[in-house]
Amino acid sequence: MVRKRTIAAMTDLVVRRLLVDMEAPIARHWCAGDPFRTALFNALSMSFPFGEQFFIDSVRNGFKALAPEKQAPIQKDVQGFIGQEATHRRLHSLYNAHLETLGLFNEWAPRAEARLKRLADLDVRHSVAITAANEHFTALMADWMLHNADLFGESDPRLVTLWLWHSAEESEHKSIAFDVYTALDGTHEWRVRWMRRVTVFFLTDTIRQTVNNLHRDGTLWQWRTWKSAASFLFGKRGLVRQNYKPWREYFRADFHPSQQDSSASENWLKDHSDVFVPVGA
Ligand SMILES: [Fe+2]
Ligand SMILES: [Fe+2]
Repeated sequence: MVRKRTIAAMTDLVVRRLLVDMEAPIARHWCAGDPFRTALFNALSMSFPFGEQFFIDSVRNGFKALAPEKQAPIQKDVQGFIGQEATHRRLHSLYNAHLETLGLFNEWAPRAEARLKRLADLDVRHSVAITAANEHFTALMADWMLHNADLFGESDPRLVTLWLWHSAEESEHKSIAFDVYTALDGTHEWRVRWMRRVTVFFLTDTIRQTVNNLHRDGTLWQWRTWKSAASFLFGKRGLVRQNYKPWREYFRADFHPSQQDSSASENWLKDHSDVFVPVGA
């Protein structure tokens, strides 16, 4: 897979109501019958409700701290960002409720919540920088998922749609937190410092929750789990292998998220307009 570096066309962010039934239960190995892939995506889903609430609050507070003339050009984008993330967290909360009935336990959320509480009294730019760093991670993974959608398998088309819709919107709004940080005169130095910290926390938390999910699923010590992990993360199309270079671009002083290609998102939204209803921003 070759990723072109193009400036994405700016479009108004639309909030979309996804037409999937999240009330129906989720199978134990919904992702291609593969315990590792299922555990990893389930772990990520567990991080969304509190993580996306933190992103919403950070961007909203950062926006409020701006002078009115700086608010005006990004107001619609900020509204769209908040609307999209609020929809994601709602659907992933329903998803996560099914995971609880499968015996999985979310230990990521309380740990991260306790950690993020320490930011409450700090300059809002710290929270916005953390959000921008997380949004870079999310956008990389989103673009990767849209290019490798076959790895979800066909066992649960409803969840595949959920993940790809979420990915398409993450790619679509990937610049917003970054733009709020820039409008707040956030420095390059702090932006990359937070990216280093977020990388350590995000990777550690993802691994811990995935291992926890596999342990509770009883598949942690199966050979197929580790074989799948190796190829899914480090194989030719591997998540880590494919995303290392685009992740590193964030450290360039002249980096902007829109420099990374978003055409997979645009194409998916164009080709799947039957699975959602736009409800405005
Ligand atoms: Fe999201
Ligand atoms: Fe996002």
